[in-house]
Amino acid sequence: MLIPDRLRSMIDDGFVRRIIRPLKSGKEAEVFVVETEDGICAAKVYKEAHRRNFRQRQDYVEGRRSGDTRRDRAIDSGSRFGQAQREAAWQTAESDTMRRLNAAGIRIPRLRQLGDGVLLMDLVTGADGDPAPQLATQHYQRDEAKHWHYQLVHEVSRMLCAGVVHGDLSEYNILHATNGPVIIDFPQATDAARNSNAKRLLLRDVNNLTRFFSRFAPELRRSEYGQEMWLLHEQTALKPDTRLTGRYTAARGAVDAQIVLREIEAAKRDAAKRAEIRAARGLPPLPVRRP
Ligand SMILES: Nc1ncnc2c1ncn2[C@@H]1O[C@H](COP(=O)(O)OP(=O)(O)O)[C@@H](O)[C@H]1O
Ligand SMILES: [Mg+2]
Repeated sequence: MLIPDRLRSMIDDGFVRRIIRPLKSGKEAEVFVVETEDGICAAKVYKEAHRRNFRQRQDYVEGRRSGDTRRDRAIDSGSRFGQAQREAAWQTAESDTMRRLNAAGIRIPRLRQLGDGVLLMDLVTGADGDPAPQLATQHYQRDEAKHWHYQLVHEVSRMLCAGVVHGDLSEYNILHATNGPVIIDFPQATDAARNSNAKRLLLRDVNNLTRFFSRFAPELRRSEYGQEMWLLHEQTALKPDTRLTGRYTAARGAVDAQIVLREIEAAKRDAAKRAEIRAARGLPPLPVRRP
């Protein structure tokens, strides 16, 4: 077994007692089952920046600000210092999100510790006590599929209430644990309030859930939970216990009316501004046009 240096140094530091076995090697990270003094956990070891591929795209990182202007400017500039800062920011993004979601009681593994390029978290287990399989490997009866689909949609909605959009949610990033599905893999998660792509990413996440579960319950295809959820979120009406219906058309009328009212207000403001400018220039007011 090839042990990454980053994990080896956690053993040297005493955080990890021993490596039980490698679990998965993915696009961005390698995951190991390890033993710590607090018991068994999963260790996610990030690959070095140059070996990763797609997820640092602008879509995801937009709106991520450390609050330290020098650091943010360096990240934007792409200098060597900037690249190192960006790498550090990428690594802490997942643990920051997990902390936030742990605090909100979302069904994700509990974060134990973040070392240099290694994240320690609870190992999600299945019925036999082994690491839980990905949802992608499971088959469901129609009613089960509808049940778990709703539970996951509700979890996504509760995440949105905590200000987080996963951004890469699919049957590969959800594990089928003994007591229901558990969501994992957050380095690309975005802040719903600060990222202009948040709506698009949220709709894609929900669509992925619906696409997967509609294999077992085709009627789910007609649901529009993503749109419904985002609308309520925009109206600050989404609460962690909101019961979603999956219907959106009725609500669309309400939002259209709001847009029309906003447009009317904006037109009134423009007209007032124009009248002010004309008056300041000593010009007579424009005649009111009748339709
Ligand atoms: N806490 C965990 N418990 C059990 N298995 C896990 C855990 N975290 C990750 N895994 C396994 O490792 C795989 C890769 O982890 P993930 O966080 O999705 O990283 P990647 O970025 O490589 O996709 C998961 O699909 C899952 O099978
Ligand atoms: Mg993954």
